[in-house]
Amino acid sequence: MTLTRRTVLLIATALAVGAVVAGCTNRISGEPKKVLVAGATGQTGQLIVSELLAYGYEVRALVRDTTKARKVLGDKVELVQGDVKDPATLTAAFAGTDAVISAVGARGAKGPDRPEAIDYEGVRNLVDAAVDARSRQFVLISSRSVTQPDNPLNKLFGNVLIWKLKGEDALRASGVPYTVIRPGGLTNGPGGNLDLVFEQGDTVRAQTTITRADLARIAVQALRYPEARNRTFETSAQPGAPVTDWRAKFAALRPDP
Ligand SMILES: NC(=O)c1ccc[n+]([C@@H]2O[C@H](COP(=O)([O-])OP(=O)(O)OC[C@H]3O[C@@H](n4cnc5c(N)ncnc54)[C@H](OP(=O)(O)O)[C@@H]3O)[C@@H](O)[C@H]2O)c1
Repeated sequence: MTLTRRTVLLIATALAVGAVVAGCTNRISGEPKKVLVAGATGQTGQLIVSELLAYGYEVRALVRDTTKARKVLGDKVELVQGDVKDPATLTAAFAGTDAVISAVGARGAKGPDRPEAIDYEGVRNLVDAAVDARSRQFVLISSRSVTQPDNPLNKLFGNVLIWKLKGEDALRASGVPYTVIRPGGLTNGPGGNLDLVFEQGDTVRAQTTITRADLARIAVQALRYPEARNRTFETSAQPGAPVTDWRAKFAALRPDP
């Protein structure tokens, strides 16, 4: 079959338009479009929301207080009132979303928002809802040192690391494609200025840190590349060139067994 000059021109124009549209939205084919953010009002959660919006995602925020959330998240975000301790509220929150990023974290060592209730049971409730909603991906912000029960943070903060590991385990066992990100100590400051280290094995190391802004960038990039799926890794920042090739960065990680 021979193509007429007109047909060739039409195909070339269609390809060019497609490339411009893809460039505008920075979209990678197959990546999720509507993302639920749990913990959206938190310090990292707010940055995750901004990063998602910058990449053209539709964002729904699961929040406990919609008035507070509207103030901190602005009006480009859909809000759903809910609580990770209350599974009944999560069904509506997940409906119609493609993926979820969780940045929830306990408040205090004891009380209703203690680590057991949020970092384990709350995360497990999110995972169950993601299974029911057939989420295409679940990105979980966890923590470095979760496999080290003797870490002093466990004594100080209600076994927070032990409960976070149980939350991670629930996700890994769920069958939902996932990325578990284990940051070192979180700091406030800009993202995109430092080299980001990805490690596996949760080895004992002297204190490592990363900015919440860089952590938010990693969480959003994890949605964009299939190479990030079914990986668990620790991350921290060090002096050096910022990441440019996220696909290669994720591809260098071992998939979980
Ligand atoms: N701080 C560190 O150095 C460090 C180190 C490693 C890992 N991490 C982890 O990194 C993540 C982000 O930390 P961050 O300091 O940015 O968090 P954060 O500011 O403390 O925010 C926590 C978020 O969780 C939400 N949340 C708490 N209980 C909830 C519930 N029952 N239902 C729904 N949402 C609930 C909070 O909502 P409200 O606004 O309604 O309270 C808030 O949006 C956490 O998982 C944290 O454990 C922190």
